[in-house]
Amino acid sequence: MRQGSRRYLVLIPVALGLLLVAAWAGLVRMGWPWPLPGRLMLLHGPVVVGGFFGTVIGLERAVAITRTWAFGAPAAAALGTLLLASGLAPLLGVRLLIAAGIVLCAVYVVAYGRQPAPFTAVMGLGAASWLAASLLYTIGKPVFVVALWWMGFLVLTIAGERLELSRMRPPNRHRQAVFLALVGVYVLALLVSITAYDAGSRVLGAATLGLALWLWQNDIAMVTIRQRGLTRFIAAGLLSGYVWLTAGGLLLLVHGGQGAGLIYDAQLHAVFVGFVFSMIFAHAPIILPALSGRAVDYSPVFYTHLALLHASLAVRIAGDLLALPSVRGWGGLFNVLAIVLFLLNTIQAVRRGRKGTAAA
Ligand code: HEM
Repeated sequence: MRQGSRRYLVLIPVALGLLLVAAWAGLVRMGWPWPLPGRLMLLHGPVVVGGFFGTVIGLERAVAITRTWAFGAPAAAALGTLLLASGLAPLLGVRLLIAAGIVLCAVYVVAYGRQPAPFTAVMGLGAASWLAASLLYTIGKPVFVVALWWMGFLVLTIAGERLELSRMRPPNRHRQAVFLALVGVYVLALLVSITAYDAGSRVLGAATLGLALWLWQNDIAMVTIRQRGLTRFIAAGLLSGYVWLTAGGLLLLVHGGQGAGLIYDAQLHAVFVGFVFSMIFAHAPIILPALSGRAVDYSPVFYTHLALLHASLAVRIAGDLLALPSVRGWGGLFNVLAIVLFLLNTIQAVRRGRKGTAAA
């Protein structure tokens, strides 16, 4: 990261703080009897997607294209979410989230201009999905429709990143065409969901399932899982994430548009917690050094937060599908503890990394 941009690293603890606020709001929404300002109850979605992922993904992309204006996306995402969540200026907050989406789209247009590649276009569609979600949220579309577009932001961004990273095992033209066709169906399903939520949800489920199966077949993780150390850990994180992407796709396809409740919870969080956080756990040891210049010293202890994430999510989803809210509640609580354990293990790993660098 360029010296002049290091001041934007302050956005990382802000994003982590917003993630923990959103997780707390999610737990209270599940029924845990803890104190929470009323307005935050319904802001769980925008705070975690805009405040955490919008900021972190915006920061990663701004560092990648090394243009100062690009840091406008993570800065606006963080400030916008703070204004929305605190209730200080919710309207200005949502407008800043829209501005963040516009800047992130511009970042991908510049990146595509520099290197016209399908993976950049797919990640650009992810950014456009986030912008559309903020616009739909502003015009008062039901949050269950907006939630599908938030899902599009994260699924398309990650799928694009995996296509970019598959250059070590490049898919042939036919396979790439299948991938892009699936992305096309995915975007179409999002558009349909605005007016036909149930049909859009089911088609989105089918496209999600297709993307999951494509990633299973083509991701280099299928090869690197046989290696050792950090390489194997990353592959384990990716492949276990594809299990949840598959489950999320199936739940959307089979149950369609739910709008609220236990099945809705399972549909969303199989993807948001199972797939997205597995990707975060797998990529963090690579992305954090690129963002902060700090080495992350790998240790097999990383498997503890990954295993806890999957075990607790299996409990949560079982609670959802068997209509056992208390089981769901405990699963959800341990979802959050898995994320906290990830943060603690990563801080430890950075500390070890620093000692290692100092000793060298
Ligand atoms: C880690 C712990 C989490 C907990 C305890 C949690 C809890 C919840 C609950 C209880 C709901 C309402 C479902 C219902 O209608 O019954 C919900 C909705 C939602 N969650 Fe989470 N969630 C978590 C993580 C996440 C993550 C990581 C994301 C995004 C990346 C996310 C995004 C959403 C969205 C978009 C909605 C729908 C918005 C809404 O209906 O208000 N959640 N969550």
